[in-house]
Amino acid sequence: MDTHLIVLAAGQGTRMQSDRPKVLHEIGNAPLFAHALASGDALEPQRRILVVGHGGDQVRGAAETLDPDITVVTQSEQLGTGHAVASARTALEGATGTVFILFGDTPFIRPETLAKMATARRDHSVVVLGFTPQDPARYGRLVMQGDTLQRIVEFKDATDEERAITLCNGGIFAVDATILFDLLDGVNNTNASGEYYLTDIVAVARARGLSATAVTCPEAETMGINTRTELAKGETIFQAVKRREALENGVTLIAPDTVFFSHDTHLGRDAVIEPNVVFGPGVTVETEAQIRAFSHLEGCHVGARAIVGPYARLRPGAELSNEVKIGNFVEIKNAQIGDGAKVNHLSYVGDATIGAHANLGAGTVTCNYDGVFKHHTTIGASAFIGSSTMLVAPVNIGAGAMTASGSVITSDVPAGDLALGRAKQVNKPGLATQMFEKLNFLKKNKQKDSD
Ligand code: UD1
Ligand code: MG
Repeated sequence: MDTHLIVLAAGQGTRMQSDRPKVLHEIGNAPLFAHALASGDALEPQRRILVVGHGGDQVRGAAETLDPDITVVTQSEQLGTGHAVASARTALEGATGTVFILFGDTPFIRPETLAKMATARRDHSVVVLGFTPQDPARYGRLVMQGDTLQRIVEFKDATDEERAITLCNGGIFAVDATILFDLLDGVNNTNASGEYYLTDIVAVARARGLSATAVTCPEAETMGINTRTELAKGETIFQAVKRREALENGVTLIAPDTVFFSHDTHLGRDAVIEPNVVFGPGVTVETEAQIRAFSHLEGCHVGARAIVGPYARLRPGAELSNEVKIGNFVEIKNAQIGDGAKVNHLSYVGDATIGAHANLGAGTVTCNYDGVFKHHTTIGASAFIGSSTMLVAPVNIGAGAMTASGSVITSDVPAGDLALGRAKQVNKPGLATQMFEKLNFLKKNKQKDSD
């Protein structure tokens, strides 16, 4: 059966107290709406539609950048969840199968739950996701008769008897694509909020003799993000899930609670992650690599058995091959580091290609920026860069070449050559002793003056 996805993301999110639309706030370094889309993507939908409204241009921009295949439609006035779904009408013209409707501010729906709904959809025109919250508060109530869902009543419109129902609406729907918009045409806004409720399609469907049912999930999955406090709580839940996944996949986390993941962090089997490591977006770490304490990684790839840190920073475009060593207080940006190369201490390597088994001494700096343009540094295989070498890019160091410590290298060094780019050392016999005598004499006189 065909599947299509609508994610509702037009609401304002007033309670975030933010100039940013709510669905652009992030969990695990991905905007909230992307989490909802990711849950839905497990169903391999044919058409995927994001409904935007408040801050629509911003959300559209973010969505199209992240996901070029998405169709973004605008709901210019927020007249309710039913009205929001109706704005996807043209985008779903002629669609058959099932339309799943998810909320952009509800990031924890598991694919398994949606699969359960898809199964139930085989026998029912409308399937709603229900849950039994600890505090039913202001959720819509599911009015069941046996396995049949008769209608959903919003809290504001409910009688005391209906409010006593504990099975609530989690907000997710799976509806026969061929009738969804007909059902919405039957929905009006004569209710306590004056809104077109998506929830009313259940009663409309039942009145037409169509079947509806509910599938349930744990409350944690339906958690919506409305405030900064909920955003922080959501982040905590997300991190707990990622840590557990990593451990279950054979990654060693020495202090799991101190390691922070992004939505797309990939860690290979037998990787070891020491305490206080932060993974920004776009990081892949291969098997048996070791990320030592207090390192920060984003947009990078760490090869098998590489060792990074402690206190290393890998920025976007850092490509570490197998068995590379990146040590303490080293920053790598947009650079390919060949097999077994070592950058062990206090270095900056940016916009560079480093050959296999090269060794960059302490304090090596690729001077890549002239204030306007960025330039490239190339270091050949097995080259040896002396401590505190400034490599003024663009510059090439040949394979097996050496630079003397403290050199400022401004022109290319051919393979196998040694480059000395520093002033020649001059020793003055006894001059240090004379200097000290003079300085100590001056100090004594100064003290006498102030006594
Ligand atoms: C909705 C359900 C309620 C359910 C609850 C679960 C309806 C009528 N009510 O209520 O039964 O228990 O979710 O959390 O559906 N949105 C739009 N355009 C609009 C209105 C809303 O895109 O015009 C989006 C919002 O951005 C949000 C989602 O739809 O992502 C839900 O809207 P919200 O106002 O939070 O609905 P609730 O009142 O919470
Ligand atoms: Mg809500």
